[in-house]
Amino acid sequence: MAFLVFGLAVLIFAFIVRRATTSIVRARSEKQRRCKSVYRIPQFERVIGYALYRTQVTAMKNKNAMEVNLQRYLDNGETWSAVMMGNTFFNTIDPRNVQEILGTKFEDFGTAERLAAFGPLLGKGIFTTDGNFWKTSRALVKPNFNRSQVADLEALESHIQQLFAKIPRDGSTFDLQKLFFQLTLDSATEFLFGESVHSLTSSEDSEQQRFEAAFDLAQAKLGIRYRRGKFIRFSDIFMPDYEFKTACKTVHEFVDKIVGKALERSHPKDAEKVIEEKDEVERYVFLKELAKATRDPQRLRDELLNILLAGRDTTASLLSSTFHVLVRRPDILEKLRKEVDELHGVKPNYDTLKSMKYLKYILNETLRLYPVVPTNARVAVKDTTLSHGGGPDRKSPVFIPKGQVVAYSVYCMHRRKDIYGEDALEFKPERWAPKPEGEESLRPAWGYLPFNGGPRVCVGQQFALTEASYAIVRLLQEFAVVEDRDGGPFVEQLSLTMVSANGVKVAVMPI
Ligand code: HEM
Repeated sequence: MAFLVFGLAVLIFAFIVRRATTSIVRARSEKQRRCKSVYRIPQFERVIGYALYRTQVTAMKNKNAMEVNLQRYLDNGETWSAVMMGNTFFNTIDPRNVQEILGTKFEDFGTAERLAAFGPLLGKGIFTTDGNFWKTSRALVKPNFNRSQVADLEALESHIQQLFAKIPRDGSTFDLQKLFFQLTLDSATEFLFGESVHSLTSSEDSEQQRFEAAFDLAQAKLGIRYRRGKFIRFSDIFMPDYEFKTACKTVHEFVDKIVGKALERSHPKDAEKVIEEKDEVERYVFLKELAKATRDPQRLRDELLNILLAGRDTTASLLSSTFHVLVRRPDILEKLRKEVDELHGVKPNYDTLKSMKYLKYILNETLRLYPVVPTNARVAVKDTTLSHGGGPDRKSPVFIPKGQVVAYSVYCMHRRKDIYGEDALEFKPERWAPKPEGEESLRPAWGYLPFNGGPRVCVGQQFALTEASYAIVRLLQEFAVVEDRDGGPFVEQLSLTMVSANGVKVAVMPI
């Protein structure tokens, strides 16, 4: 017992010494770099920050973490620090700081524990790595997202038809959000693997359904793993999650088979087979192109899964939030219908979609008020500074020591009245329309970041906007009435992305 007490005392002493030394070093560096301290939000104690942690956990449980965070920004200003479970978090919604974190001082920040948290499922790829590995990944992946590839609407149409087939036409209630998640999985796997998992049509207990279930389960756990921060390695050793491990294994085996087949097909010695199968695999396949750059099966699997994770839920979330709004706002739906009717029932192509201005404003506005990735964070990889938020007037630079977590909330930044006007909380697609001469059009620059910015800006932005636009137009061409069967407000559900906790319950009537 005495030994335990002694051990605990040593630990507490070491903790206090470390905090004191860090404060001294920080104060000295602050002075050297002409920085001033950032505002600290009032906290009962700032050693552990347990009360704030409890507030956060309760907000997550109550599904109102975004609103709670917004209120915190309204109460404390746009840049401040807080302590939670022993870690100090620097928080900002100042676009100038965000621009530095993601853009001008990109090299000073990294994604920290992303690889440790996501690695068991995704391995090393564009989404999970930093530094040179990330650069190679980005160079490998980026060329595959040029215009001609994102515009393969024919492939998408076949999945849309399967989605239509699952929609009840007798006015009964169904969850559109669930179907959107299946649609985006089907189209993403077709684009990435060259074969869709057809989750909209595949039978229960098929290999495809098992993959979908395993991917969903493993992905759902990534958010929890990420929130464990530095403790993730510890918890992997002492509290291994066998369900997660099994799910990862199922996902890997499924993708490995597809990668194996692709490598076999594109084997230089197997030239005849390539010709033989060419008709079958006519359209653009991401994996096939990637296999020209690397034949490492692990690398191929990892990059595919990195992109599947980044691209699937995100687009489904955008589609769901858009319909969450559309069914509640007949005025907006009607205006959009008019634009869709101008196509006279003809399926849109890439250029038609691009020319649909009101649709674009709706998507902009959805991504503003319901950003798919509502909060994000980076960790300083070296001592650095951010130019705004320090001192009593919050105008001085702030010192950011190596290891400091820097969090930014796109959700809260997108609600700033000084950027978007007094009606910032209203859903108003028209705000994105260019203003007549003499009036200033909305140009939020780094104050609008649904797809992130800087060197790590989303590579799938055009792919996502094209897919979402196409799906919306096709749904409105197929169904005359789309009505709300939920009635409630948007309730957030946070994992890696934000979706509606209550789904999107609607009923439709065919044209
Ligand atoms: C509405 C849909 C989408 C939204 C809102 C969105 C948003 C984002 C955001 C915010 C990031 C930055 C994450 C970070 O660095 O912390 C990101 C990165 C990324 N996105 Fe998207 N995304 C969408 C769709 C897609 C699609 C369809 C794909 C691919 C098919 C895709 C592929 C990626 C990849 C590969 C990255 C990592 C880029 C890098 O780190 O270099 N995204 N996306």
